[in-house]
Amino acid sequence: MKKNWILVPSVLLVAACATAPSPQDRLTVNDKKIDQVIAQMTLEEKVNMLHSKTNMSSAGVERLGIADMHYADGPFGIREEGVPNGFQSAGWTLDSATYFPTGSALAATWSKEMAYLYGTGMGKEARLRGKDVILGPAVNIQRLPVGGRTYEYLSEDPILSAALALEYTKGCQDEGTAVCIKHFAVNNQETNRGSVDAQLDERTLREIYLKPFERAIVEGGAMSVMPAYNKVNGDYCSENEHLLNEILRGEWGFKGFTVSDWGGTHSTMGAMLHGLNVQMTGSNYLGQPVIDSIATGALTEALVNEKVKQILRVRYAIEAVPDGVANTKMTSQPECQQIARQVAEKSIVLLKNEGVLPIAKEVKKIAVIGQNAVLKTQSGGMGAGVKALYEVTPLEGIRKRAGADVQVTYAPGYKNFPGRRWGPAPAVPNPLEAAAIDEPADPVLLEEAVALAKDADLVIFFGGTNKSIETEGSDRKDINLPVGQETVVTALREANPNLVSVLISGGPTDLRVLEPASPAIVQGWWNGTEGGTALAEVLFGDIAPSGKLPFTFPMKLEDSPAFALGNFPDPNAGGDLFTLMYRQDVLKMTPAERQAFLDSLPKPVSKYTEGSLVGYRWFDTRNVKPMYAFGHGLSYVDFEYGALKAAAKKDVVKVTFTLANKGGMAADEVVQLYVARPDATVEWPAKELKAFDRVTLAAGETKTVTLEIPVKDLRYWNVEKNAWDLEHGKLVLLVGAASDDIRQQAEVTI
Ligand code: GLC
Repeated sequence: MKKNWILVPSVLLVAACATAPSPQDRLTVNDKKIDQVIAQMTLEEKVNMLHSKTNMSSAGVERLGIADMHYADGPFGIREEGVPNGFQSAGWTLDSATYFPTGSALAATWSKEMAYLYGTGMGKEARLRGKDVILGPAVNIQRLPVGGRTYEYLSEDPILSAALALEYTKGCQDEGTAVCIKHFAVNNQETNRGSVDAQLDERTLREIYLKPFERAIVEGGAMSVMPAYNKVNGDYCSENEHLLNEILRGEWGFKGFTVSDWGGTHSTMGAMLHGLNVQMTGSNYLGQPVIDSIATGALTEALVNEKVKQILRVRYAIEAVPDGVANTKMTSQPECQQIARQVAEKSIVLLKNEGVLPIAKEVKKIAVIGQNAVLKTQSGGMGAGVKALYEVTPLEGIRKRAGADVQVTYAPGYKNFPGRRWGPAPAVPNPLEAAAIDEPADPVLLEEAVALAKDADLVIFFGGTNKSIETEGSDRKDINLPVGQETVVTALREANPNLVSVLISGGPTDLRVLEPASPAIVQGWWNGTEGGTALAEVLFGDIAPSGKLPFTFPMKLEDSPAFALGNFPDPNAGGDLFTLMYRQDVLKMTPAERQAFLDSLPKPVSKYTEGSLVGYRWFDTRNVKPMYAFGHGLSYVDFEYGALKAAAKKDVVKVTFTLANKGGMAADEVVQLYVARPDATVEWPAKELKAFDRVTLAAGETKTVTLEIPVKDLRYWNVEKNAWDLEHGKLVLLVGAASDDIRQQAEVTI
């Protein structure tokens, strides 16, 4: 009988669509086989998979040919090999990696394409090192301008963070390396990070702090998740029923496994019953105590089997790199170095420009002032440090690009603050190191710098922070420019008005002195292996700057929401559990003594009473003018935005407009679509980012741009219904070059 081919394909198509596995469900394809393997395992073998084997691995089952799971820090470079039981360097030679631009720099590209490429680079180099899982991306919202890990994270905005987290996840996992998206969740400060209780309402949790994780897990298929050190609404993240079982597995359908942050597991029963799969590191909770608890009936072997199954789903999804293949060639690969360069080129933000940039052809003598022009930024910052194969510093990039007919001089300009000293002070102090972060400018260094400035056609001042000032493990006390940089830049301006200031930092800094002294200001980030190359390309005008701020530069720290409301720092904060756990006297205590000591400490709390008004949502809603707004970034050309054509369909709101490059060189523009709801009965921020895109235009070129907002992304979390809900009504669609630079608007009704 001749088959009705018309019917068959359509039936197949429907069947295929109906059963197309979600990114998470793809992990269950081996479940039957996994069940059979688990049936062959002893209880000891199974429990052995629930905790660390070495500092960066958890066990497989050699007898059954199941490989160990190997982890490596990211999130912006495969960390050098450590010794089996610690983080100390193993002293290998082939583990020098590509140092990719840090998180806030990647976010400043506002480029989904760059985020995907970035993820492929991380995935490729992880496999060269024999790693199955990278501990990244780090996608927590940048709630505090002083946050120690602002540079690791992406943005203050959940939509921007989520879009890039999704692409990074897809890129990395497409290369055969699992991500371990972190730190789940509401991990927004380093102060008392091991014990602080982040207290926030459900709507804020859902709409702001979980959004980057939700998209990467549900749409990106993230295979593993790292619960954070802190508590959320009273429970540690590593044993948080609401986060790990109700939301992550229950609502989002997560099928992979969770691995605690290092030292972030807090109990056997809590971890086992509330969603943790692997304890990192150690086995004092998810080792023998699990076996004992099964013997007493407090736990069941079926629960152990479920956890092992979740681990094996990822084990079977990620092909283990054979020992004879791993670490046999240099980790850093040229194609990844080029990805790092492309990201860096698109991340650089031109904050201000009164005609000084790009560097004019007539400039034949450039004075580069400031140690941030020569300090490497690859290492430091604890887990996120990278042993890079090479790193082009800003001074090297400028000298290389300037060529032989431009003289480039250099002076340190200020001392560098090396961060808290862990050991005794050196017998002979380093003349270029400051003893305190707020040490005033050194007169000798200042005089030397001013002399160079007077004798130059152009001065490029490099300020900002360093990887000891902005780091995991501590938050900054303020966002002041350190070590007398304000004095230096003011003196340089007086010596030579042709001045460009370049900020090398991960987070925002206070620019109230530097801004009026600088005709041009560039945010240069911690920009990876080719950061100096990319910066020089922008400064000399080979490419137009196209980065946009992923977070707000407040005029002053006190203007930012958590500080304005007195929510941070917590005046009652006691000793931080995390740091105390490793204090020598505490380590000597018996477990009972240690627990009693820790229970005696004050319980730090971080109240998120600003709700969803984080970052620009606060500044816009409360009409507080920032120094530079979220989404701000200038170019060397002007862009013209045409009138909007807007339409609201059942599932999508669509906006179309023309964008013209009115300048004389090719340039990228990041167009941003915000939404305001003037008639809403539900409370909303003044406006919220809902879509964006990076558009490349040749000189004089005009393109038609379309931005879409899925209607589902316009919902709010209805706490009464405990579900997403849509409020119908008028939307004002605001399209522009920054959150404070709206060029066109239109209205629709949904
Ligand atoms: C840390 C960090 C985490 C890192 C882990 C392993 O303390 O919080 O981001 O991946 O330890 O280094």
